[in-house]
Amino acid sequence: MVVVRPPTLDEIPAVARLAGMLVAQHEAFDQERFLHLDDPAAGYARFLPRVLGDPKTVLLAAFVDGELMGYVYGTLEGRDYFALLDACGKLHDIYVDDRARGRGVGEALVRAIQAEMTRRGAPRVVLLTATQNENAQRLFAKLGFRTTMLEMTAELPKPTPE
Ligand SMILES: CC(C)(COP(=O)(O)OP(=O)(O)OC[C@H]1O[C@@H](n2cnc3c(N)ncnc32)[C@H](O)[C@@H]1OP(=O)(O)O)[C@@H](O)C(=O)NCCC(=O)NCCS
Repeated sequence: MVVVRPPTLDEIPAVARLAGMLVAQHEAFDQERFLHLDDPAAGYARFLPRVLGDPKTVLLAAFVDGELMGYVYGTLEGRDYFALLDACGKLHDIYVDDRARGRGVGEALVRAIQAEMTRRGAPRVVLLTATQNENAQRLFAKLGFRTTMLEMTAELPKPTPE
């Protein structure tokens, strides 16, 4: 049985631990494109309490047999002319502890954030997913996401000293 609800302040360290693994996973995908952070879990543990309860933030945790096994984090955004993107919810993070994968936890989290963003008036939800992350892409496609943009990155030479 999966229960999805906002985490309490006491549960934030468990969310931050998973968030740290999400950052490490992306760094492993491509060390040049994805930011290196020495201790991302500690950073999240400082950041998340500040946004807990913010009307523009959606932070939800999934509990399996009472244990926190996943989280999803998103924000409500206004029009962005550079991105040619009108108001939307952005899904920034989703992570399920590997002990609980393949049991519908990720799906429950995405459905829950979609429902919460709908309730708060967002007309759509937009997310970015790493090209290599085919499992996540399958999850999102299953829940109605279509591919709309493709990010491309080129590393540039370091400037030569004058
Ligand atoms: C992606 C992730 C959130 C999926 O969570 P999960 O709880 O294992 O997923 P679910 O059990 O709810 O699966 C739902 C759907 O996702 C897809 N899916 C998830 N894991 C998959 C896998 N290993 N292989 C193929 N499809 C997969 C399937 O479409 C599945 O539906 P189905 O069972 O009907 O085929 C989880 O693997 C995870 O946390 N990965 C690391 C973090 C990450 O990649 N986050 C996404 C960043 S964009």
